[in-house]
Amino acid sequence: MRRKIVVGNWKMNNSVAESETLALDVLAALGEGFSGCEVGIAPTYLALEATGRILEGSEVQLVAQNCHYENDGAYTGEVSARMINAVGCTSVIIGHSERRQYFGETNATVNLRIKKALSEGLQVILCVGETLAEREAGVTESVISSQVREGLDGISSISPIVIAYEPVWAIGTGKTATSAQAEEVHLLIRTLITELYGKEAAEALRIQYGGSVKPSNAAELFAMPNIDGGLIGGASLNAEDFVAIVKAASR
Ligand code: PGA
Repeated sequence: MRRKIVVGNWKMNNSVAESETLALDVLAALGEGFSGCEVGIAPTYLALEATGRILEGSEVQLVAQNCHYENDGAYTGEVSARMINAVGCTSVIIGHSERRQYFGETNATVNLRIKKALSEGLQVILCVGETLAEREAGVTESVISSQVREGLDGISSISPIVIAYEPVWAIGTGKTATSAQAEEVHLLIRTLITELYGKEAAEALRIQYGGSVKPSNAAELFAMPNIDGGLIGGASLNAEDFVAIVKAASR
């Protein structure tokens, strides 16, 4: 059985002090000794170190929202995989649709960032997902297929990677994909991975769903055979809601 994984993506929200408070609230709501599923939170780069200190010794992992593909150098505004590793991150989100949409991220740069993160020993959450226009044009399958194939190009093992399917039209819009719509794409992704890495690796791969996951719809989504947890944006900014989602994944 695959262990479910739920990660809160705080995006560009919360100052350092606010991140510390929210992390403490998440730990309190989870309760001591929680082990129901894998849990992570991804504050801004600025709050990683302070949040990491709060999470130390707990089951909750420190996750970064992105990382660059060089170790250091003239890349104003960027932070490297080596640096996030050094502050205690165990995982990193790569290729989030907001990075693709607003910051020119492409499948090629996603691929470079994944390779660097893996070389630092980090677990990678690779985000894929189609826009509304792509869904309506009937090209969801080909978009997801290129994002997966090109994102993973030249990567020999899928085991340190989690894939997050996040339909862009469902992110922050309140419109969740139905569990059947999500399941269909999750199955497509698992089939692609079977083709690329074999059956055993594909069976072990965790595929998260992301896009307006809330306490009210989490259980139904997580009950689908190919949905192995969630990447949570808006609802992760409230400790009670986030923990309710984590608990839905732990049943
Ligand atoms: P949302 O964001 O839960 O606010 O829709 C999900 C994500 O972008 O990771």
